[in-house]
Amino acid sequence: MAAGARYAGKVVVVTGGARGIGAGIVKAFVDSGAQVVFCDKDELGGRALEKDIPGSVFIPCDVTQEGDLQPPAQWPEETSIHGFRQLLELNLLAIYTLTKLTLPHLRKSRGNIINISSLVGTIGQSQAVSYVATKGAVTAMTKAFALDESQYGVRINCISPGNIWTPLWEELAASTPDPSATIQEGTLAQPLGRMGQPDEVGAAAVFLASEATFCTGLELLVTGGAELGYGRKASPGTPVAIPTLT
Ligand SMILES: NC(=O)c1ccc[n+]([C@@H]2O[C@H](COP(=O)([O-])OP(=O)(O)OC[C@H]3O[C@@H](n4cnc5c(N)ncnc54)[C@H](O)[C@@H]3O)[C@@H](O)[C@H]2O)c1
Repeated sequence: MAAGARYAGKVVVVTGGARGIGAGIVKAFVDSGAQVVFCDKDELGGRALEKDIPGSVFIPCDVTQEGDLQPPAQWPEETSIHGFRQLLELNLLAIYTLTKLTLPHLRKSRGNIINISSLVGTIGQSQAVSYVATKGAVTAMTKAFALDESQYGVRINCISPGNIWTPLWEELAASTPDPSATIQEGTLAQPLGRMGQPDEVGAAAVFLASEATFCTGLELLVTGGAELGYGRKASPGTPVAIPTLT
């Protein structure tokens, strides 16, 4: 099938679509022939992308009442219940609310939902207790919704990206003491030796929406293999016990 026809005649709504992974998803669905409406709280960025991608329609919208970006690396004692709640609003409850609001329509149109979770929701991540907890919940909620909605023919899947080179990644790296070292570490975390690109997440989303018609409750890892194999996992302060040769 021609790339421009894979999702022709369908309407796709993307949240947080002005930049990064969301923008990659907007582009991929426009290329697949869908009509794409995207929202973002960044009105300037959204308008700019709307101009760049003819066929897309931007609507300014904050998917939470008090959304915030994910916090920088935090040890457990540095986290707060307030910060955790804000992240829950953004990463989990916004998805829950949007899903509830769109289900009546999706049941009629036999549509599908793709949530963006994260690899770390399954494998954990240091200094990110709140973020990891919200993403693990997104993956779990995807499966629970998938079970309940399958009777209506609505499929609900999620994508768990690993390291994807986006403005968010760049900003988080810039906030560390040695940004180049942070970026190098992030790059070497993948057996493929690079970070992913937003359009690669977009391609996975188009696949789930258009071709993966027997998949529901699926967590699709788009990670370059970051979760594979052993690696150095003891942090510098950990007492190590190395066996000696006899
Ligand atoms: N980049 C990665 O390596 C990576 C890895 C795993 C998971 N993820 C997840 O992918 C998603 C996108 O990440 P990204 O790296 O593209 O981030 P990004 O910051 O580059 O882009 C996020 C977009 O969402 C918009 N946004 C934020 N809060 C909003 C709100 N309340 N209402 C509407 N729009 C809002 C921002 O304005 C921005 O345009 C996030 O859920 C993130 O946790 C990213």
